[in-house]
Amino acid sequence: AKKAVLGPLVGAVDQGTSSTRFLVFNSKTAELLSHHQVELKQEFPKEGWVEQDPKEILNSVYECIEKTCEKLGQLNIDISNIKAIGVSNQRETTVVWDKLTGEPLYNAVVWLDLRTQSTVESLSKRIPGNNNFVKSKTGLPLSTYFSAVKLRWLLDNVRKVQKAVEEDRALFGTVDSWLIWCLTGGANGGVHCTDVTNASRTMLFNIHSLEWDKELCEFFEIPMKILPNVRSSSEIYGLMKISHSLKAGALEGVPISGCLGDQSAALVGQMCFQDGQAKNTYGTGCFLLCNTGRKCVFSEHGLLTTVAYKLGRDKPVYYALEGSVAIAGAVVRWLRDNLGIIKTSDEIEKLAKEVGTSYGCYFVPAFSGLYAPYWEPSARGIICGLTQFTNRCHIAFAALEAVCFQTREILDAMNRDCGMPLRHLQVDGGMTNNKILMQLQADILYIPVVKPSMPETTALGAAMAAGAAEGVGVWSLDPEDLSAVTVERFEPQINAEESEIRYSTWKKAVMKSMGWVT
Ligand code: G3P
Repeated sequence: AKKAVLGPLVGAVDQGTSSTRFLVFNSKTAELLSHHQVELKQEFPKEGWVEQDPKEILNSVYECIEKTCEKLGQLNIDISNIKAIGVSNQRETTVVWDKLTGEPLYNAVVWLDLRTQSTVESLSKRIPGNNNFVKSKTGLPLSTYFSAVKLRWLLDNVRKVQKAVEEDRALFGTVDSWLIWCLTGGANGGVHCTDVTNASRTMLFNIHSLEWDKELCEFFEIPMKILPNVRSSSEIYGLMKISHSLKAGALEGVPISGCLGDQSAALVGQMCFQDGQAKNTYGTGCFLLCNTGRKCVFSEHGLLTTVAYKLGRDKPVYYALEGSVAIAGAVVRWLRDNLGIIKTSDEIEKLAKEVGTSYGCYFVPAFSGLYAPYWEPSARGIICGLTQFTNRCHIAFAALEAVCFQTREILDAMNRDCGMPLRHLQVDGGMTNNKILMQLQADILYIPVVKPSMPETTALGAAMAAGAAEGVGVWSLDPEDLSAVTVERFEPQINAEESEIRYSTWKKAVMKSMGWVT
């Protein structure tokens, strides 16, 4: 059959905590042509520890690329039209590998991991000067969430890592660096880089000078020689070089020219380019980012200051305020894998619909402590308000409500910090397919929730950055050329008073979840 004629295409790797995807877009229309998704394992070797196998992450990327290319072939779409590839990724997750063998030296320590709690406590007693030392340079509180302490743990505890550092063979990276290094040739000339958005989540990066910070590296005792080069989010980093005989080899020579942490990518994909525009992405966790333009705004209410994007070497940097919630989709996976009360994640919607209320049950899924606005590592999950009447449907409903209440907490903080309340909430991510959740969210926020009809905004943002890069130039970021997004709206249906009562009971439950671990 004749191959379909299309404009230039752009591929995007979306490497999240729960799954990996590869998606291909038409750069002229932003239409999603094909994609493939693979679920990823997480390992919990000890209480509070969360790890992933960097090789499995890499292989899932190869598998997704290969399957997507096959699907495009079935649609008669010529994959030689793919002109660029973007990478977006789970942030903070820390990998150290050997640059000579290409082998990871330990599992990836995932952002949710709590093993560094005691390191954080002892470091916080040693902060030089005023308490603002880390925050003023990085925009982040000293927390187990960010890479510097995970890397510190690897350097202190893994002999193979120590030896490789001594012998000058160790490379550190977040997942973007690991993937780009492997995809551009690995031990045979792979490019060791990251972008400003990912670097801004390591706690080693100065978000004002946009460089690794010598004083921070000294404070965390991190050898600077193992850090990747920091680049903009949109430029050619290297060309695809696939060393084994996968069909992914069909993309050999295609430039990798976009790189953004997944939350920044979603901000771009939601076209939040103006000061004050915000989006909330429901993935494993839930992350509300508000573009603050070229100003670095520091929060008074528990939010982070982070790099939003820098779309080109000579382009300005934009910043965002971020409300981070550790557990959103992860609570659904927990109900599936740990309690077995649902068989597939989608089933939660059916259960919640059956009852339409939690019947007074509240579920605080503080599995990794509480992030914004509390930053309380000692919190642990609780399910409370149970009676003999409570069944699995009520618990499922309470789990969905928890995601919405947590979003309400970060939205309140955002409104206070910005001084101008958001009038609607732009949302995206896998969980937004759940209509009950979206309606609950509108009810609990008491503002409309707006969802794009193409919810893969993270991948879209990475594809846009890759396609717009200098030397690629197949995607225009001019506002006039950006296609209008069709949306679905959810309007609040309960009254504000009822919404407030539910929210204040939630807050009581949150207080009970704190201080479990001392
Ligand atoms: O900061 C962690 C975040 O990037 C993880 O994203 O999509 O796996 O929830 P996700």
